[in-house]
Amino acid sequence: MKTQPASHGLKEIPRHVAVIMDGNGRWARQRMLNRIEGHRRGIESVRAVVRTAGELGIAYLTLYAFSKENWKRPKVETATLMHLLGTFLRREIGELNRNKVRLKAIGVLEDLPPKVLRQFRATEAATAKNTGLTLILALSYGARDEITRAAREIAAEAVAGRIAPASVDEKTVARHLDTAGVPDPDLLIRTSGELRVSNFLLWQISYAEFVVSPTLWPDFRREQFLDALREFGRRHRRFGGVESLPRA
Ligand code: FPP
Repeated sequence: MKTQPASHGLKEIPRHVAVIMDGNGRWARQRMLNRIEGHRRGIESVRAVVRTAGELGIAYLTLYAFSKENWKRPKVETATLMHLLGTFLRREIGELNRNKVRLKAIGVLEDLPPKVLRQFRATEAATAKNTGLTLILALSYGARDEITRAAREIAAEAVAGRIAPASVDEKTVARHLDTAGVPDPDLLIRTSGELRVSNFLLWQISYAEFVVSPTLWPDFRREQFLDALREFGRRHRRFGGVESLPRA
């Protein structure tokens, strides 16, 4: 049974929530642990947030799991993150199916180690028919890269004579992004208190509400997620227009 939003004091359930999961390294450092332990604990937060999003009836959840820039980290860290991702994808199929979660990804998946890419494809196929939450993992993702790839494709179509340059509009661009067909995020959450967008969904977050949580990602669980959703419920979205005031 779906949890009623009212039971958590939620006024409105966003259709699409995007999350910049940040603070794994700091969480580990505060405990004199290796950074990898922070990522390991972070996976528990991924599970908690995915479960809660599904329960609440959120339609899309996009998680920034690995950026294009993250490849610059020490080899041992990127290799371990890839290993953790592969293990997560393998172990989670049952839980994703039980919760009717459909898995998708954005980013340059060909950058992933072949074994992890195969595991991703297998989990994607195994969950393709699920009708609940769509979980989108951003993997080897960078928004400027995504927009550049879209521009390249549109230019190629124009050169081939399939589209007229003058007909290119915002819908054309949106159709060529990795998120084609996915509604823009209503809410963008960043954990660990950092006030940066870090090359995440630059086109898509134009009108998203931004909630920054001070909690480090490994401690960001159901309650912190619900807090962010309550904060979203207090916002008045205007999309560049003016707020309609009640008539006197
Ligand atoms: C940011 O923390 C987090 C990441 C770069 C990776 C996020 C990955 C996970 C939560 C685990 C794997 C994900 C899935 C979906 C299985 P940071 O290392 O930048 O933290 P810091 O800023 O404190 O150093």
